[in-house]
Amino acid sequence: MNDNNHNHSPLILIVDDNQDYLNYLATILVENGYEIAAARDKKEALAYLDTSNIERIDLVLLDISLSSEGDTEGFEVCKRFKQSEKAKHIPIIFLSHHENEEVILRGFNEGGVDYISKRVSAKSEKEMLARIKTHAELKRSRDIIEKQIKELRELNATKDKFFRIIAHDLRNPFITITEESKFIGSNYKTLNEEQRVESIGIISSASRRVFKLLENLLEWAKMQLKEIKIQKTFVDLNPIIEENISLYEEIARKKKIAIHNAVTSPCNAFADKYMIDLVVRNLINNAVKFTENGGKIEITGLDKGELIEISVSDTGVGIAEAVTGKLFHIDGGHTTPGTDGEKGSGLGLILCKDFLTANDGEIRVESQEGKGSTFIVTLPRNSREAAQ
Ligand SMILES: Nc1ncnc2c1ncn2[C@@H]1O[C@H](COP(=O)(O)OP(=O)(O)OP(=O)(O)O)[C@@H](O)[C@H]1O
Ligand SMILES: [Mg+2]
Repeated sequence: MNDNNHNHSPLILIVDDNQDYLNYLATILVENGYEIAAARDKKEALAYLDTSNIERIDLVLLDISLSSEGDTEGFEVCKRFKQSEKAKHIPIIFLSHHENEEVILRGFNEGGVDYISKRVSAKSEKEMLARIKTHAELKRSRDIIEKQIKELRELNATKDKFFRIIAHDLRNPFITITEESKFIGSNYKTLNEEQRVESIGIISSASRRVFKLLENLLEWAKMQLKEIKIQKTFVDLNPIIEENISLYEEIARKKKIAIHNAVTSPCNAFADKYMIDLVVRNLINNAVKFTENGGKIEITGLDKGELIEISVSDTGVGIAEAVTGKLFHIDGGHTTPGTDGEKGSGLGLILCKDFLTANDGEIRVESQEGKGSTFIVTLPRNSREAAQ
């Protein structure tokens, strides 16, 4: 459904082969504040199913006969509308000369919501307008409810994810930190130097994990609450990439992973520096996390005219095709441990996607299980205003 749908007057599709009646209906409906679309036969009516306009139609007024032979082609149109995913919710009111009960009942059975007699009189005109108004309003209320249900479902998925992360991912590292520090505190004298270093190492990596998680979680929460103010400027991506590589250099060295930055300055994008920094950090973090000892990571930049494309490629574990579609969605919930058992929350890429969308950018992945992955980010090189 088009979000702006309800800013327009209701749009009514009239399907009738009688041009005079069609004109008559169109005139009084326009006078009463409706917008009109028209079809003169079955073919023209069905053609609407393939246009984007179909999403805007609030009501169909459908002649049952729809042909000079007086048969019931209108029922066929009704059936096809009811079979279409996009059109099945549009209410259909049948128009007919017949006062034949059987024909009217068939109209209701085929999915019509109402029936209007074509016998024109001032009284029937008022009644017709009242019925049209009721059904058009009902359709709009339904659209609003459906949109709200969709938003509520998304909010619910967001809330579930929050609780899951807080209940599990935040709790676990804290347990490690409290237990391990208690252990080193009570056994300090009996532990040898090596055991103490090991214990401190455990505390340090659990705190790093909890910090990264908190950072992502808070950013994401702010984004959901629309509290983040986006400040777009021209940013050189190269220093951002360099800084983030240096953050992971130590871990990469331990895993014997070589990181190569092939991007050269200036590599400008028009975006929020802080948000892009977080995107780059998450992608490099993932590449290091999901690459085996001895692997390689390469970051490249490609000038694509109005866009700049940054790719982070690794020779790591790769991602199964069935999983790639789930990666950037909150309800996908996909996370796996890294090659050293590093745990995550599955938030990083969702955050990347949200932040890039807010910067008119995109993210996609190309990956082969067992061979490696490439995450490709595109961003505008100029401000939209400047590009116009
Ligand atoms: N470079 C990569 N190579 C292989 N798998 C990857 C890569 N990047 C992401 N993935 C897969 O996608 C999942 C989701 O990544 P994402 O960054 O969103 O979460 P995470 O790394 O598990 O946790 P965190 O919230 O700490 O980032 C990962 O758990 C992993 O299964
Ligand atoms: Mg990650």
